Amino acid sequence: MGKPKVVLGVSGGIAAYKACELLRRLTESGHDVRVVPTDSALHFVGAATWSALSGNPVSTEVWDGVHEVPHVRIGQEADLVVVAPATADMLAKAAHGLADDLLTNTLLTARCPVVFAPAMHTEMWEHPATQENVATLRRRGALVIDPAVGRLTGVDTGKGRLPDPAEIFEVCRRVLARGTAGPDLAGRHVVVSAGGTREPLDPVRFLGNRSSGKQGYALARTAAARGARVTLIEANTGLPDPAGVDVVRVGTAVQLREAVLKAAPDADVVVMAAAVADFRPETYATGKIKKKDGQDPEPIVLVRNPDILAEIAADRPRPEQLVVGFAAETDDVLANGRAKLARKGCDLLVVNEVGERKTFGSEENEAVVLGADGSETAVPYGPKEALADTVWDLVAHRLG
Ligand code: CTP
Repeated sequence: MGKPKVVLGVSGGIAAYKACELLRRLTESGHDVRVVPTDSALHFVGAATWSALSGNPVSTEVWDGVHEVPHVRIGQEADLVVVAPATADMLAKAAHGLADDLLTNTLLTARCPVVFAPAMHTEMWEHPATQENVATLRRRGALVIDPAVGRLTGVDTGKGRLPDPAEIFEVCRRVLARGTAGPDLAGRHVVVSAGGTREPLDPVRFLGNRSSGKQGYALARTAAARGARVTLIEANTGLPDPAGVDVVRVGTAVQLREAVLKAAPDADVVVMAAAVADFRPETYATGKIKKKDGQDPEPIVLVRNPDILAEIAADRPRPEQLVVGFAAETDDVLANGRAKLARKGCDLLVVNEVGERKTFGSEENEAVVLGADGSETAVPYGPKEALADTVWDLVAHRLG
């Protein structure tokens, strides 16, 4: 089998330079990349750069190498087309099926998955024309990654930035791996919590846990690549924002609860992958706690934190909403998991065994997903994103 064939479409925005980094990641990970820029893209990055980095010829026109019928062949042969950056004009052309250059022709002939990574000024992104074009493209099965929020060209900031190329690459990798399975979570809103809460004692100390957040991030990235709108509520992970995902940062269990309750009302699924502290110090010292010579330290008095998972499972804003929990267990893993599923009242519970060198911080995981309907799905030891995909398979099946 040859290398997977990727078409990298580049339209004319200042973020075109970031597509060089995406191109490098794609070629270095064994993809055969054909760059198809628009004429305006070449104002930002020249054809020589695209050609040298891809090792393939570069053209914007259907009139070059006509004997090879490039306007049809490039799209037909592709395993993936990714347009990054996609300007408002490009989204409009794609939504309306215009074909006045090589890239727009390629988009019409491609039958493989298509990913658009839009980048533009906030006003252009928010304009009803652009939003309707995005909705049209999504309805037809394309994956349109929401732009990131941040600094735009010049001094303004807002939604419209091209996400980090490394994260667009992550989306491409997952979409390619799914082949023709398509974005089965399109139109769904999923809320995922990730990381571990920290309960402060004073301005410098906290009670925390070993959760790295990697499983929650794998869930968020996988859901986004399957077309879902994703709200990721992260506690103390320090991980980069996944492309197209709305990230909410929290610190403590109480803040996490607030953020989950705020995001949950229109969610189809809430997945509680975060390790939430069951207790917090009763008092917070506004100044650093000092040791006093000759005195024993003051005991730390703890109070219970709310059980967010049990609360959202018991009090669903919509009866059809699905709630997924995680159970980290060190002993009697399955028996404890079954009891926890019943106690928390969730639809699915991902049970895994944890320990100092197991699961926490690692790239791999092994788990059993228990269903309230009595089902048990064993997920063998493997990458956290494989477990994430199994969770979304079970969720997609239940959403119908
Ligand atoms: N959880 C939660 N709120 C809490 C504690 C846990 O929402 N205050 C959620 C976690 O996000 C996870 C699930 O509950 O999805 C189970 O977490 P775990 O720590 O395994 O369970 P606990 O309820 O803390 O039970 P125990 O410590 O007794 O094992």
